[in-house]
Amino acid sequence: MDRIIINGGKRLEGRLPISGAKNAALTLLPCALLTDEPLTLRNLPRLADVDSFGHLLNQLGVSTMIEGTSPEDFGRVMTMRANRVTSTVAPYDIVRKMRASILVLGPLVARAGEATVSLPGGCAIGNRPIDLHLKALEALGAEIELTAGYVKATAPGGRLPGGTVVFPIVSVGATENAVMAAVLASGQSTIQNAAREPEIVDLCRCLVAMGARIDGIGTETLTIEGRKELHGATYQVMADRIEAGSYACAAAITGGSLDLIGVNADEMRATLHALAQAGVIIEEKRDSVRVSADGRLKPLTLSTAPYPGFATDMQAQFMAMLTLAEGTSVLTETIFENRYMHVPELARMGADIQVTGRSAVVHGVSGLTGAPVMATDLRASMSLIIAGLAASGETQVQRVYHLDRGYERLEEKLQAVGADIERAGDG
Ligand code: UD1
Repeated sequence: MDRIIINGGKRLEGRLPISGAKNAALTLLPCALLTDEPLTLRNLPRLADVDSFGHLLNQLGVSTMIEGTSPEDFGRVMTMRANRVTSTVAPYDIVRKMRASILVLGPLVARAGEATVSLPGGCAIGNRPIDLHLKALEALGAEIELTAGYVKATAPGGRLPGGTVVFPIVSVGATENAVMAAVLASGQSTIQNAAREPEIVDLCRCLVAMGARIDGIGTETLTIEGRKELHGATYQVMADRIEAGSYACAAAITGGSLDLIGVNADEMRATLHALAQAGVIIEEKRDSVRVSADGRLKPLTLSTAPYPGFATDMQAQFMAMLTLAEGTSVLTETIFENRYMHVPELARMGADIQVTGRSAVVHGVSGLTGAPVMATDLRASMSLIIAGLAASGETQVQRVYHLDRGYERLEEKLQAVGADIERAGDG
């Protein structure tokens, strides 16, 4: 199995292109199921999760064609076409590898009148149930059955009527499924307490480009007028605000300066605000953000929250950065249980962190030392890369497949801005 090997202590400097957003891609891809015309996505990141989603779509009857990389995009251009949905089943062996497979449930039941998706099961960052996805589809008129580890959603009469969904807590995935189901309903739907993440705005904009009628985009109440059918479109995936935030933490911890190319600062205000409070200088340009640090970092008190709050997907990377701050930081994780798996690994590199319940107290230390480490989820793995970039000596990060799920060309991008980092096979 591959490892990433870092010789830490190099200051990062230069221009770093930000890829298309993984989490936006994973909700834009299933939109192909909503029409028999072609949907072309540009700026798709080359990531393991995007490939897995493509394979899932192929199994459902969607043809996928990668048209290479257009010169003005960093990512791929892919055209998908679901002339006919040939299967409405997302099997266990795909869903267990990629939780986001649940996002075919809404579009499949909307287009084909039924959908059967394996229950995702346990997940490294907590229990992560799908009850909100199911309640939302029920509110839109679907009948839900659970049997033999699968959930089956059926639209009586072949088409969902639409309805009112009131989410008790904010869920990104359940909002996405509800929106994708409602756009083809026979009536109007309202989604209250909807997630407002930029990836949901991206989803809504793509659906509007496909002919959907959605009001309230970017707010917590979405009103959707169902359409009999949607048409094809070409849509550009937004830049990955989490990838950008991760590299900003890497610049900060190495006392470096990076131009993050292609990002939209408005979509990552909470991250930029936290970085500024830590003493990082932020300069916003038209299509990029420069982050510069002088090696001295101030401690922070941060709590994760749904957008526009501080993203749970940035918690691990900030924690790595704050291990070297001058003072004590307190991080509180409010979205997921069990999202501190990076803590024992950071401790093996010399970090001083105590976890009590949902909070982690990080006492800044004067230096980290390289070590062999591994993490069990994507963002936790990135936090170890960030720590390794600042640590003295060699850090080996195992289980690289987690990073390949979410960071496109990680070592190539970091090498280009001065990091001593490489991928090695087993041996
Ligand atoms: C998405 C992101 C993930 C991010 C998360 C929160 C994708 C592919 N993944 O995950 O990177 O960390 O948003 O920003 O976009 N919950 C329930 N029942 C449900 C659904 C969720 O109780 O049916 C709970 C979850 O356990 C969690 C909270 O709701 O505590 C928020 O989760 P949610 O926003 O749904 O996360 P995902 O969509 O899975």
